[in-house]
Amino acid sequence: MKLNIAVLAGDGIGPEVIQQALKVLNAIAEKYDHTFLYQTELVGGIAIDTYGDPLPEKTLEICKKADAVLFGAIGDPKFDNNPNSKIRPEQGLLKLRKELDLFANIRPITTYTPLIHKSNLKEKVIKGVDFIIYRELTGGIYFGEKTLSEDGNSATDTCTYTSAEIDRITHMAFAAAKNRRKKLTLVDKANVLETSRLWRKRVQEIKKLYPTVKLDFLYVDNAAMQLILNPKQFDVILTENMFGDILSDEASVISGSIGLLASASIGNKSALFEPIHGSYRQAKGKNIANPLAAVLSAAMLLDHFGLFYEAETIKNAVEKSIELNICTPDLNEINHFSTSSVGNFIRDFVLDNDNTFYNKHNIDLGQSTII
Ligand code: IPM
Ligand code: MN
Repeated sequence: MKLNIAVLAGDGIGPEVIQQALKVLNAIAEKYDHTFLYQTELVGGIAIDTYGDPLPEKTLEICKKADAVLFGAIGDPKFDNNPNSKIRPEQGLLKLRKELDLFANIRPITTYTPLIHKSNLKEKVIKGVDFIIYRELTGGIYFGEKTLSEDGNSATDTCTYTSAEIDRITHMAFAAAKNRRKKLTLVDKANVLETSRLWRKRVQEIKKLYPTVKLDFLYVDNAAMQLILNPKQFDVILTENMFGDILSDEASVISGSIGLLASASIGNKSALFEPIHGSYRQAKGKNIANPLAAVLSAAMLLDHFGLFYEAETIKNAVEKSIELNICTPDLNEINHFSTSSVGNFIRDFVLDNDNTFYNKHNIDLGQSTII
């Protein structure tokens, strides 16, 4: 298969982790005879520094033309700490989501057996957890009208949803649940918010088309608690933009590190794949950031184009790296490996998983992986 991929590495650790994802994609291309062509452009803080615009026209253009976008991270504290700054890196990502109409953000949450004992949560709570968050990505409070009064003492952010916006992601979430364990949980705040009541109405209506799927509802405050108390109850969670943002960070604790969580943002014409962690500026350039979320985002990209076997190969390699403790410091405090060695290991495993000889002694020393 031939795929044109726009690569937006962005800020902070984005370039380092995306470099590993590209290594792994290239290994897949080589092994399975695919052609992946990349076009790289700037986005976020680095695009502001270079062009004064977090999403330059050139960047948007290559994304619109590409089959898919591979995205790193954006954000920089130098903008966060200045509430008066009019241009912010995040605007680049938000505009890109809107322009490409990436309305469904899919965030899978799974556990890895070797990491279970390292979690802050009890093994009996998290063992076997496997659910997906369907987060609406182009509506709600993120994109509603914003105002700031002239005296600067009053501000508003408006939350708006239309039935059409709710329906399209709801269909996707029901279709996913139908192929999984057949349970959909709508997370909202219908006891308070009018938009949430519209979500409930539309979701109940659409449910009629998916009779095999069980539907239940949770208020977002209760959902935040249930995610930690009993995450096994979830199969597919459907929710609006901001609730999905918050709950997915919370859910990352179940997997063991936010550095493990990949995501796909899907629209009718475009698709973007990105790790859910941010730019983690403190780690920039140190070769310590976990590349697995970026690598797994590349696997989601392949899944999206029906390259299921190739995606599985990447997931197996990631699992192997975790099993052998070939991990960055967030997962392996003592004998940790660098971002690029984790990437190298996964690339080599993809290329030659049967014949690769692992030097266990060196792995334990945190040195090299393969002799
Ligand atoms: C995410 C991020 C973004 C969001 C930021 C960077 C705008 O936190 O993708 O979860 O809030 O959607
Ligand atoms: Mn977020």
